[in-house]
Amino acid sequence: MGLTKEEKAMLSGERGPALQRAMEIIWALGKIYGAAGTVPVKSAQISGISYKNIGEAGLDFLKKWASEGAKVQIPAMMNPAGMDLKRWKEMGIPAEFAQKQSEIVETLVAMGVEPTLTCAPYLARNRPEFGEHLAWSESSAVIFANSVIGARTNREGGPSALAAAIVGRTACYGFHTEQGRKPACLVEVACPLKDEADFGALGYLIGKKLGYKTPYIRLRSELPAINKELLLRAMGAAMAASGSVSLFHVEGLTPEAEIFPAEGERLTIDSLNVAYFALSSPLNEVDLIWIGCPHASPEELELIASLVNGRTLSTRLWVTTSREIAEKAGKAVEVIEEAGGLVLSDTCLVVAPVEALGIKSVATNSAKAAFYLPSWAKVQVAFAPLEECLTRYGGVR
Ligand code: F3S
Repeated sequence: MGLTKEEKAMLSGERGPALQRAMEIIWALGKIYGAAGTVPVKSAQISGISYKNIGEAGLDFLKKWASEGAKVQIPAMMNPAGMDLKRWKEMGIPAEFAQKQSEIVETLVAMGVEPTLTCAPYLARNRPEFGEHLAWSESSAVIFANSVIGARTNREGGPSALAAAIVGRTACYGFHTEQGRKPACLVEVACPLKDEADFGALGYLIGKKLGYKTPYIRLRSELPAINKELLLRAMGAAMAASGSVSLFHVEGLTPEAEIFPAEGERLTIDSLNVAYFALSSPLNEVDLIWIGCPHASPEELELIASLVNGRTLSTRLWVTTSREIAEKAGKAVEVIEEAGGLVLSDTCLVVAPVEALGIKSVATNSAKAAFYLPSWAKVQVAFAPLEECLTRYGGVR
C-alpha cells in the first residue's frame, strides 16, 4: 500500500507509539485487502464499547493506547455500552459491571471520543452526507450509511475504527471504491411487505442467502405507509446480522440504485415464512418487550407513545435510543414512562449483561435483535411488529 511521507513517519514510530499503533492497524488492513493508499475520513464510529463484549483484555488494550497519548483527530463516536450510564441501577446492572463499563467510556473520552453511545448516530447531528468517506464499525450503522445515505464506509472493527479516528484516514478499499459498490445479485421480492417486522424478516433472508455480497433489491409490491427510513433500517440491520452485508441498493429508493444497476446472479423471495419461523418462538408471555434495535428514532418514540398513551402496560417495556434523541423527544418519553415503560439511552439488550438481569424471554419488532438474543444472551424471542408486541405482550389495547 502506498503511504505518504507523513504516514511513513507514523508507521516508523517517529510520531510516537500511539500513532504508530494506529497506523500499523490501517497499514495491515490495507495490505490484506489490496488498498492502493489511504483516504481521509470525516468521522469514526467505534464498536466494542460494552464491557460484556470486550472484557478485561479490551479495557487493558484501550488503557494502554490512551496511556501512549492516543487522541482522535476527527469526530469519533461510541456504539452502545452495556448499560444506561445514568439509569443502570434501574436496569438491575451489577455494581462491578457498572464500574468497569464506566472505565471503558472514560478511557475513550480521554482520547477525545464523544460518548454518543448509539448505533444510530445518523439520526441526529452526526448524519453524514452522500459520498463522504467514514470509518464506522457498528454493522447496522455501516449498512445504513452506505445504502440509505450513500456515504462510504467499510465495516470496521472497533480497533480499526479507533485507529482511523486517531490517524484521520483509513485504508481505501472495498466500499470506499466504485468497484466495491456494485451489486452482485438481483433480489426480486415478490411477496407483500406490510410493516417493519416484514422488512426485518426480508433482511434476515437476504443476509442468510448472500453472506457478504451486495444485493440490488427490486420490490414488486407497494410500500406500506410507514417512514421509509425506518423500514430500510430494519431490513439493513437484519441483513448485516444474518449475513455480513454492508451495502444494498433498492430500486427507486436508495441513492445509488441508478448509479450501480442490477447485475450478477438472481434470487426471488416470495415468502417470509422461513424467516418468521427461524426468528420467533411461540411464547404466550414474555419478561420484557424491547423496542429500539437499532436505536429508536424520534418518529418511533412518537409512534410508541401514541400506542401506549393513557394505558398501563402489563409487561415491562424497554425502549432504547440515544440520549440526544431521548432529550429531544421529551414528551413522547414522558408518555411511554407514564404507561410503565422505561426509555433507556447509551445501551441495548444485545450488549447489556442480560444474563445478570434475569431476563429470559423478550418480545421485539427487530429481526436483528431476534437473531442475536437467543445465541448471545440465551433469551427466547417473540418476533412481531411493534403494535403486536404492545397489544399481545404488553396488554395495551
Ligand atoms: Fe443497536 Fe444494539 Fe441493535 S447496537 S442495532 S440496538 S443490537
